[in-house]
Amino acid sequence: MINRSDYPADFLFGTATSAYQIEGHKFGGAGSTHWDSFAATPGNVMGLGNGQLACDHYHRFEEDLDLVAAAGFDTYRFSTSWARIIPDGVGSVNQQGLDFYDRLTDAMLERGLKPAATLYHWEMPSALEDRGGWRNSDIAKLFGDFTEVVMACIGDRMFSVAPINEPWCVGWLSHFEGVHAPGLRDIRATSRAMHHVLCAHGTAIARMRALGIKNLGAVCNFEYANPIDNEPENCAAAARYDAIYNRFFMGGIFNKAYPDLVLEGIEPFLPKRWQDDFDLIGVPIDWCGINYYTRSNLGHKEGAWPNIQTHEGPLDKTEMGWEIYSDGLFDFIMRTHQEYTLGLPIYVTENGMANDDFVKNGVVNDDARLEYISAHLLAVLKAVKQGVPLAGYYVWSLLDNYEWSLGYEKRFGLVHVDFETQKRTPKKSYLELKKALKC
Ligand code: FCB
Repeated sequence: MINRSDYPADFLFGTATSAYQIEGHKFGGAGSTHWDSFAATPGNVMGLGNGQLACDHYHRFEEDLDLVAAAGFDTYRFSTSWARIIPDGVGSVNQQGLDFYDRLTDAMLERGLKPAATLYHWEMPSALEDRGGWRNSDIAKLFGDFTEVVMACIGDRMFSVAPINEPWCVGWLSHFEGVHAPGLRDIRATSRAMHHVLCAHGTAIARMRALGIKNLGAVCNFEYANPIDNEPENCAAAARYDAIYNRFFMGGIFNKAYPDLVLEGIEPFLPKRWQDDFDLIGVPIDWCGINYYTRSNLGHKEGAWPNIQTHEGPLDKTEMGWEIYSDGLFDFIMRTHQEYTLGLPIYVTENGMANDDFVKNGVVNDDARLEYISAHLLAVLKAVKQGVPLAGYYVWSLLDNYEWSLGYEKRFGLVHVDFETQKRTPKKSYLELKKALKC
């Protein structure tokens, strides 16, 4: 395991969660979201699990933040739920919802934790999904309105804010692969969602600047695209995957352009005059967050664009079946610095693994997680030593939680949660990280 003293003195260590995955959506007057209806549809989510109770963080946040602080973390990344704050997505504000984030913020500050907010981590209010959700071009403005409501309340106390978690998941995974809510598989829906999510990002940044909120960024996810061999058509498939996953959103935000390899498939379906939105999408920001977990092994597939087939790879895998490949994190940090952010601070805003964890005699031996985190922290250190302005690293996740379409089956937490009793048990990885953060 690394030690804190191996890193620059102002490097921040943190851990991350998201609203729907932990809070318990049934509490506090929150409105319905597209994850509630997606989860209620057979075949979408393992065990039909939803976020109605989750980790009951809504009532237990003090205890949970005590765990964050006791581990020695400097910062906590959380998200705000649109439907908790504005149950119908537009119009009346649910004061109880705002009060919750107000209390949460103060509770972080009381413990010396820097609050790192994400405005949207995937739960769209159902009333807005009914109006087309991310497919509707009005969504950027409505998201801007939501942003103002949240930030007028807690913005003065945030360390950092990012509008949207992982635009690739919001656009592609949810509208092309149908794996996440709203579960669509439609290229027109995908193209529009991919573009509108970036318009929403830019709108939120502009609204927050106008409110005087500081330290605004973007959080994108990355997956290393490895061709299965050197055959040109397999390499081309990997390059397309890389462009869709790793270059489209970064290109829009930092270079005001979309990669040709993506446009060749989606351009016919983009909204009219999409090029006119780049000044909004590419509005300057202060930092970039990288979420990184794994790599994919890719080959050519006959049929319709994007002609990509994913293959099982040879590396060790986590409980998600995801290959463990820490060199990929190093590569993405370098690429982000050299091709996109050009000197802005970079954070690793999510990294971690699912493991088959269970409590035995009060102990959870998750050595595999410890190894995973250590390997990725070494990749971070390597990039720091090459002069990249890396400013922090967040472990996903503080708690075992609602892992979206995999329900409660996959455990990513540093802290084990018994979903029957809500008992929290710090795992070995938590205890070892706590030691490392003291040294
Ligand atoms: C990321 C998500 C997070 C969690 C992890 C495992 O893509 O941001 O909510 O599901 O994956």
